[in-house]
Amino acid sequence: MKKLAVFASGSGSNFQAIQEAIDNQMLDAKIEILISDKPKCFAIERARNLSINVFSFYANKYTDKDSYEEEILNLLETLNIDLIVLAGYMRILGPTLLKGFKGKILNIHPSLLPAFKGKDAIGQAIDAKQNIIGVTIHYVTEELDSGMIIAQEKLDISHMKSKTEIEENIHKIEHQLYPNIIMKVLEGYYEKSTY
Ligand code: GAR
Repeated sequence: MKKLAVFASGSGSNFQAIQEAIDNQMLDAKIEILISDKPKCFAIERARNLSINVFSFYANKYTDKDSYEEEILNLLETLNIDLIVLAGYMRILGPTLLKGFKGKILNIHPSLLPAFKGKDAIGQAIDAKQNIIGVTIHYVTEELDSGMIIAQEKLDISHMKSKTEIEENIHKIEHQLYPNIIMKVLEGYYEKSTY
């Protein structure tokens, strides 16, 4: 069975959706560990409730990105992780993890990339008066929210009344799409990233 490491910095609803897909036998994999740079985030509480191991850290307690990524890489190698799944992990990965897991790192982003990279993509789209937004799943490179796009799904927000309503609908898409795409990636359905 393929082993996943999920990285999250926030609420962890995608992390939970992936675990639920595993429980419902929609996704044949195991989440070995949740990695988080926010030791107090809700994702960690979810992991505890799901009895999933956690590694959390404060980046500012390390001299640099390489030193905490070295520690994470060693841990992931010890656990024989097959795929890193970024699920609301709000840090740019450095060369240590990118080289160690070349072509084996996925990210989900709440926009139709390459539009609205970075933080608060939904807010950016609202400010830009977009009617159609969406979700992108892509392989990860050293550049923020870049890398080969694997899947996108659109959402028409023209009739939606609040940012909360839009976020709820984006999450609904993400929670379906991410486990499906993870399964296909694990099955070798998509061409491996060349990065
Ligand atoms: C998700 O909407 C995800 O697409 C986004 O963070 C949210 C995390 O929600 N990711 C990014 O913006 C990456 N640049 P969650 O913690 O409830 O899964």
